[in-house]
Amino acid sequence: MIEDIRATTSEAERLVDAASTLDELARVDREVLGKGSALTGFKRQMGGLEPDARREVGAALNEARAALEAAVAARRAALAATAQREQAEAERLDLTEVRAGRDAGHLHLVTQAIEELEDVFVGLGFTVAEGPEVEDDWHNFTALNFGEYHPARDMQDTFFVGLGGDREVVMRTHTSPVQIRVMEEQAPPIYSVMPGRVYRNEATDATHLAVFHQLECLVVDRGITFGHLAGTIDRFTKAYFGPGWTSRLRPSYFPFTEPSAEFDLQRPDGTWLELGGCGMVHPNVLANCGIDPEEFSGFAFGFGLDRLAATRHGVTDLRELASTDIRFLEQF
Ligand code: DAH
Repeated sequence: MIEDIRATTSEAERLVDAASTLDELARVDREVLGKGSALTGFKRQMGGLEPDARREVGAALNEARAALEAAVAARRAALAATAQREQAEAERLDLTEVRAGRDAGHLHLVTQAIEELEDVFVGLGFTVAEGPEVEDDWHNFTALNFGEYHPARDMQDTFFVGLGGDREVVMRTHTSPVQIRVMEEQAPPIYSVMPGRVYRNEATDATHLAVFHQLECLVVDRGITFGHLAGTIDRFTKAYFGPGWTSRLRPSYFPFTEPSAEFDLQRPDGTWLELGGCGMVHPNVLANCGIDPEEFSGFAFGFGLDRLAATRHGVTDLRELASTDIRFLEQF
């Protein structure tokens, strides 16, 4: 009988290994391990055996069952992995398709600017971070040291999104809230840039868009000074536009920096481009994110990417950047 059990088991293992789908395996599983299986049949016959023989046969049956169960489990895992691979392959989307063909399109001007600037900053040792476009009041305003009734909240015409009741969120008005998210999540040293889309409730014209893009830069470390800020702005200006460009800072006000400045870039022809805001991260902002302002200092700046990209390519009306006109788009 032991011989028969062995032979039955190896035949059953062959069937298990031969199952080529999960359905077929389920059928084989029932056939070789279920109530009507040969193994169950042997078990029924055990009753008529002498005690010693019964023990021996019982042990052989247990062993056979364990081996078969293991074989079924292994085969099931292999078939499931194959099925998953096949499904992933079948559902694969070729996202490179658009760019592969000649004349089949390219990245948008602003996307190109984001990617180039990311490369510049990564080259300077920065990491790239992102945050949500729908923000809460804490990240967009309060943690950035905007007092509850501070007029600076009006500097940015905000789109509010009602969530029912008195719950309300905002479309982020700048990328500065990503500074807060980065500082809440990680301890200094921080050297990060944060590109993204931002929203302002304002009339659109040649120099203003209601939906546009900014790049935020944040450094927090020991001994960071205003000199580091000015130097970093100048470095990326030259890296992005070329060595003939320079930058200058003008005193300004932002609630989240102290001192604060605006920065302009000077074109090789001597004319100026007003680009963004900057300053030393306000001690309250560091403290709001659990960073000790006695130990660490930082600088930040943020600017509009659309204006930057438009300048680089001689586009004079920012509204063109939202255009779907292929005759405009294919020039870049
Ligand atoms: N968030 C400001 C705006 O959109 C720009 C800005 C100013 C960003 C100063 C900064 C900063 O990081 O330090 O108007």
